[in-house]
Amino acid sequence: MLDKINKLIAEISGFSVLSPDDLELFRLKFLSKKGYISELFDDFRNVASDEKKELGQKLNQLKQQAQERYNYLKDSLIQTQKTSRINDITRPAYPWNLGSRHPISIMRNDIISIFERIGFTVSEGPEIEDDDHVFTKLNFAPEHPARDMQDTFYISRLSTEDSDPRDILLRTHTSSVQVRVMQAQKPPIRTISPGRVFRNEAISARAHCIFHQVEGLYIDENVSFADLRQTLLFFAREMFGKKTEIRLRPSYFPFTEPSAEMDVSCTICGGKGCNVCKYTGWLEVLGCGMVHPAVLEACNIDSNKYTGFAFGMGIERPAMLKYQVNDLRLYFENDIRFLEQFRTAF
Ligand code: PHE
Repeated sequence: MLDKINKLIAEISGFSVLSPDDLELFRLKFLSKKGYISELFDDFRNVASDEKKELGQKLNQLKQQAQERYNYLKDSLIQTQKTSRINDITRPAYPWNLGSRHPISIMRNDIISIFERIGFTVSEGPEIEDDDHVFTKLNFAPEHPARDMQDTFYISRLSTEDSDPRDILLRTHTSSVQVRVMQAQKPPIRTISPGRVFRNEAISARAHCIFHQVEGLYIDENVSFADLRQTLLFFAREMFGKKTEIRLRPSYFPFTEPSAEMDVSCTICGGKGCNVCKYTGWLEVLGCGMVHPAVLEACNIDSNKYTGFAFGMGIERPAMLKYQVNDLRLYFENDIRFLEQFRTAF
């Protein structure tokens, strides 16, 4: 009997399982009523009484070992089943919830990629600026209305009466970035500056106190108004379609001379007249002009040698046209039901 017990001990400790069937086999073989161990307990009745003590202990030990091995094999089987479920390459994938780009980002990226194709770089600058970069270097007279508290969010003002170039404020346009580029680089300069700007305006369906702009600057020898026109025509046709026409109307900005507003033929009716273009056939898109010599000089660029053009546009309005959004506030509310509609647009 001792022999049999030792054989069973060896068999139990060497037993391994790959499936629940193997585990059941182990249970039937060793632990069930008709298994080997029960059989040995039956035989135990016939063992001579002087051997009973030693064999009894051995037999109990065998039974305990079989039970422990069974528990161990069962646990490890559950464990391997769990990991193999994780590694199951045939299992269908989880439906990942992909995000979508914000319509303002889509529009900004479109504008950037058009200008990048004709050699413009992208420059960025701080949103918290000083008066010098936002106004003074751009030829704004000290009493210019744009510096007024009604338009500009001031963070710290050194004097309430006169503007001071050290006043700290939120930039009202990204032309301030162009001042920084002109101060830091020598011509030729060909750059666009996308960014967020701030103006103290009442919030409505058509206006917001925070909005986005892309402004452009090109400075080199012999840059002319014709170059500006061609660049803008290229942009308009890439952005709004090959048939788009542009129109330049005289305008005024302190930092450009001459200055113009650019209109594009209405993207909705193609110029025939509709309620979007208020039956004029044209939509106002951007401001532009030749950089004022006083601006070049203020940024240490020789205005006898170099000329340049600049332009600037808001992103919200063209994006409203493109996506037929009729309330600008939707861009800032981040309502997921609004944003999800741009899921397929990259
Ligand atoms: N900075 C002007 C604005 O914010 C736009 C502009 C830029 C106009 C460059 C002319 C030239 O309205």
